Amino acid sequence: MNSPRRRTTWTSPLRVRRAPRWERQTPTWREARPAVIAGALKRATARPSGNWYVVGASREIGARNRPYGRTIAGVEVVLWRSENGALRAGPGECPHLGAPLRDSRVVCGTLMCHWHGLALDGGPFAGWEPYPVYDDGVLAWVRLDAAGGETPLERPVVPVRPVPVNALDAVFTVEGRCEPEDVVANRLDPWHGSWFHPYAFVGLKVADTPEDGGNDAFAVDVAFKVAGRLAVPVRAVFTAPEPRTVVMHIIDGEGAGSVVETHATPLTAPGATNPRTAVVEAVVAASDRRGFALARAAAPVLRPLMRRTAGRLWRDDLAYAERRWSLRSTGRFPG
Ligand code: FES
Ligand SMILES: [Fe+2]
Repeated sequence: MNSPRRRTTWTSPLRVRRAPRWERQTPTWREARPAVIAGALKRATARPSGNWYVVGASREIGARNRPYGRTIAGVEVVLWRSENGALRAGPGECPHLGAPLRDSRVVCGTLMCHWHGLALDGGPFAGWEPYPVYDDGVLAWVRLDAAGGETPLERPVVPVRPVPVNALDAVFTVEGRCEPEDVVANRLDPWHGSWFHPYAFVGLKVADTPEDGGNDAFAVDVAFKVAGRLAVPVRAVFTAPEPRTVVMHIIDGEGAGSVVETHATPLTAPGATNPRTAVVEAVVAASDRRGFALARAAAPVLRPLMRRTAGRLWRDDLAYAERRWSLRSTGRFPG
């Protein structure tokens, strides 16, 4: 490892955490004031996104020379890679007679329509205009100016991450019936952790909220359950750098420097009656432990495990976000 904090003797990151019985935990509802969450959400949604939307995992796009299609904010988008691996993106309808380009083929970096052979190299052609696209190494982003309606930014607001050579990343995607703000609001309520996810967290304590000043962040002390009473204690800080992203930075404890990014990408057009949102969660894990080099080598095996952990949490968190939407859309939301 090339970390200056190389350890000479191995110490376990695990600590014994005796969790109180679920019903004996300290209730958090008094601290979890709806106005604090709503205020943080309002400030997050007011930040610029520059009309950039996360599409999905960068490594999934262009695999096996197949185009990648997704509807984002009601806009059908197709993405593929040129011969040198650069991302290309544009409308998902063929400009000739509307074939779904996501089902077409990529031949030597050119997208060839499977209905009549129209070829797109990624530049404008016959009324087909490319969309700006950005590959940050973990995630692919596309800029949809008409859907976003903000002043465009040249690049998306990509969270600060550990240096790739020291990091291991996994991307997990789920879809829910809600709007992006419901996903963001769930993430800006750290108080639900030990109550709603008792299988994952022990002793969660919110140490700082945006109301305590600083950089509009929530700081949380929590132990991640590993097995039985064994858990890994960390301090995590949550921020929302743009309207559809909440980032958790682990700033102290095992894996300090790691980030978990939650990106909420609307699939349906703004104002849809039955909105759908994709949650694209990127875990970029870092560690200065020697074992981590081995973990990186085992990445293909570890990624599905990391995804499975995220999946369990997200089943519950999506239920929270969907419930929030269902109450909001019927005027019953208490916050
Ligand atoms: S519909 Fe694509 S070439 Fe005709
Ligand atoms: Fe949660």
